[in-house]
Amino acid sequence: MDLLSLVLYLLLTIILLQVFHSLLRHSKRRSKLPPGPATLPVIGNLLELGDKPHKSLAGLAKTHGPIMSLKLGQITTVVISSSALAKEVLQRQDLTFSTRFIPNALQAQEHYKYSVVWLPVSDRWRSLRKIMNSNIFSGSRLDANQTLRRQKVEELIAYAGKCCQNGVAVDIGRAAFSTSLNLLSNTMFSVDLADISHDSTREFRDLVTNVTLEAGKPNFADYFPVLANIDPHGIRRRMMVHFGKILDLFGGLIDERLRSQNLQKPNEEKDVIDILLNLNQEIDRPHIGRLLLDLFVAGTDTTSSTIEWAMVELLHNPEKLKKAKAELEQTLGKRKLIEELDIPQLPYSRATVKETMRLHPSVPFLIPHKVEKDVEVHGYIVPKEAQVLVNAWAIGKDPSIWKNPTTFMPERFLESEVDVRGQDFELIPFGAGRRICPGLPLAMRMVPVVLGSLINLFDWKLEGGIAPEELDMEEKFGLTLQKAQPLRAIPFHM
Ligand code: HEM
Repeated sequence: MDLLSLVLYLLLTIILLQVFHSLLRHSKRRSKLPPGPATLPVIGNLLELGDKPHKSLAGLAKTHGPIMSLKLGQITTVVISSSALAKEVLQRQDLTFSTRFIPNALQAQEHYKYSVVWLPVSDRWRSLRKIMNSNIFSGSRLDANQTLRRQKVEELIAYAGKCCQNGVAVDIGRAAFSTSLNLLSNTMFSVDLADISHDSTREFRDLVTNVTLEAGKPNFADYFPVLANIDPHGIRRRMMVHFGKILDLFGGLIDERLRSQNLQKPNEEKDVIDILLNLNQEIDRPHIGRLLLDLFVAGTDTTSSTIEWAMVELLHNPEKLKKAKAELEQTLGKRKLIEELDIPQLPYSRATVKETMRLHPSVPFLIPHKVEKDVEVHGYIVPKEAQVLVNAWAIGKDPSIWKNPTTFMPERFLESEVDVRGQDFELIPFGAGRRICPGLPLAMRMVPVVLGSLINLFDWKLEGGIAPEELDMEEKFGLTLQKAQPLRAIPFHM
């Protein structure tokens, strides 16, 4: 054998050994993947998601177990469906699971580079979380600006009062959405961005609705990275326009405030925007706009769909509605508006909100998490770059934890310490660990106040003479879990 042949022979042997080694590693890694359903070429398990993926995946978990893997197009996805494993990924191995899987739509306006929702755990993300925790959502800040929100609840009640006089139905989800938007916009800017009864400020409401609708649509670009630049459904292009308009509107409000701040006395801080502008070392003007965009998108649909589902459950279960009304009447007096400081005295109302969140968590898979390296969980490998979904919807209905899991029974929380604050992994509508929802303290004020006021000020009947037991309970999956048919109910006084 001449020298050249020898070199070629050695080279070929090395290449073959390397290919063999990598195949072996790949198949070892595959064999340690969590179990899951068989996959079809190219599309993987996409067809198995159906139009209610939270239910389909809960069903598959019954066969494949509380940690399972699927292939959504080209994306390896690991689904967690038990409280024990949720605790493992959101608490014990929290940091490893804290990165986000970024949907293609969020490339619009490069929002993912600024957004507290989508940034990885990093100095910038930590600083944004700190700013929110101490300047927006702390107990003292929320106490200080609660009067801004009280007025918005009064306006909702005035609107329902008019419907009551005219004997017409309130679209509860729509009214709750406008109210949530105004509760937020008053907390942030002391202005209304939506008017429940008029269409004059409709544009902002439509913009936020459009963002949530687009973000909730299934997008092939998320499952097939080769399509990422093509934007096959035009979602990213439309998001670009919606984000642009919202950022312009916020930019205008911020500029206006900067101009009027010059006329203000120092330390005269009214609302969140004043506070953020005075933190000029920590957050600049463009980041304030981006943060507000996140807060409005993350905070409106979630809050309003929870209020709508709570009303749905109460109207579907008249004896529970009677108990909730009785508590409000006995504790605060009939036909009185509920204030945020009343909430601690209302255990049945608090239990009603928790029970609604157990049955109808508005973000059923939390916001997708991701791992950046291979991680071992429960004897399996969650591979690098895998998307991780925690099925909070399935966990809230686990029959090994919850008695009569599909029955609406607020009483179950009266004698129990289980709470939604991320310590009890059987009930995680806000997530848990580092990425837990920062808006939780505000949401847990807004939902009981709006719900309690609606039921303490009026009696309600379903439009069209529908009997409570006939109320349709179908869900519609999107960015948040909505009621498929909007709840329409007529307020009246007995
Ligand atoms: C009933 C109402 C709400 C529910 C059920 C809810 C639920 C959630 C959930 C499940 C997450 C993701 C947690 C995870 O991925 O592990 C989240 C994140 C977030 N929520 Fe909420 N949320 C609500 C209200 C709000 C409000 C009112 C705001 C602000 C005004 C807000 C702002 C955010 C933000 C900024 C994030 C991203 C946090 C991060 O990634 O670091 N949410 N929320």
